Amino acid sequence: MYGKVLVTGGAGYIGSHTAQQLLDAGNDVVILDNLSNGHRAMAPEGARFVRGDLADRALLAEILGSGIDAVLHFAGSIVVPESVADPLGYYRNNTLNTHGLLQACVEQGVGQFIFSSTAAVYGDTALVPVPENAPTLPISPYGASKLMTEWMLRDTAAAHGLRYVALRYFNVAGADLRARRGQSSKNATHLIKVAVEVLTGQREKLAIFGGDYPTDDGTGVRDYIHVVDLANAHVKALDYLRGDGDCQVLNCGYGKGSSVKQVIAALERVSNRKIPVEMAPRRAGDVAELVAEAGRIRGLLGWQPEHDDLELIVRTALDWERKRIGLG
Ligand code: UD1
Repeated sequence: MYGKVLVTGGAGYIGSHTAQQLLDAGNDVVILDNLSNGHRAMAPEGARFVRGDLADRALLAEILGSGIDAVLHFAGSIVVPESVADPLGYYRNNTLNTHGLLQACVEQGVGQFIFSSTAAVYGDTALVPVPENAPTLPISPYGASKLMTEWMLRDTAAAHGLRYVALRYFNVAGADLRARRGQSSKNATHLIKVAVEVLTGQREKLAIFGGDYPTDDGTGVRDYIHVVDLANAHVKALDYLRGDGDCQVLNCGYGKGSSVKQVIAALERVSNRKIPVEMAPRRAGDVAELVAEAGRIRGLLGWQPEHDDLELIVRTALDWERKRIGLG
């Protein structure tokens, strides 16, 4: 199934991978990105690229009124510690801008919406794996800003008949298998991104935040999902909505955890190099273990991950990083 879609944040990490797959599936794709974090070169060829801001209501009305049947909304701010320092900035970028986008969808009659939510809505959960119906008690403004959008979606759906899928991402990593795009954020805090920056000589060493967690090897455990599989979940979610599917909130992970030490070991195997590490105290706000209960999305959307392989995740991340900085 195909049509004309708006991808906000389509020059960013996850949005650009998804925009590529939407094009490959035969959709007309309009990308709206203000390039505050995105990169023009990551937006796939074949998409119409509009440099602009979500806060520009006239622009939104014009784009949404041009025959768009669905919105995939990636644009937003994503760094947890930054959200603690600048909560109002996060509520503006993530919550208020989405409010404006939803309002424009209602006004222009765009009835299908896919939203980038996050496992951060669960906060400091003790449930492993964590199901979608677990309590949502975010511990950062970032998580709260995303949860507020889930609520706006729920209520807008009830009042105006909008249908949506909110995908709660776990730890997204890896890059396009042909290294056309990948994670490019400056001052990255994500484990795999930091580790590949060490391997490519951009940082001296990797700090392991906490070796005393109640996990098998004492380091934090996360559910790492390859960005290409995550992008495909959006394509499946769009098919589902176009097939008259009703509103859903779905975890997006593989349902299995890897520790910080296992991630480092995988990177050392694929690069054949030792990564200099140092033990450091726990990072504020980190939980010991966060793993998705991952069955619902497979059952409902027929999503079949194809890159559920930690070595592939870290190898593609490394290949992209080498290319990005001109080593590969
Ligand atoms: C990530 C995202 C968050 C998202 C969440 C969903 C950030 C910073 N985090 O959180 O947006 O909502 O997934 O689950 O944007 N680690 C180190 N050393 C480092 C970096 C990380 O030891 O230099 C450890 C962390 O303590 C943690 C694991 O690696 O145990 C993963 O950390 P990270 O990649 O930052 O992701 P999360 O904090 O899990």
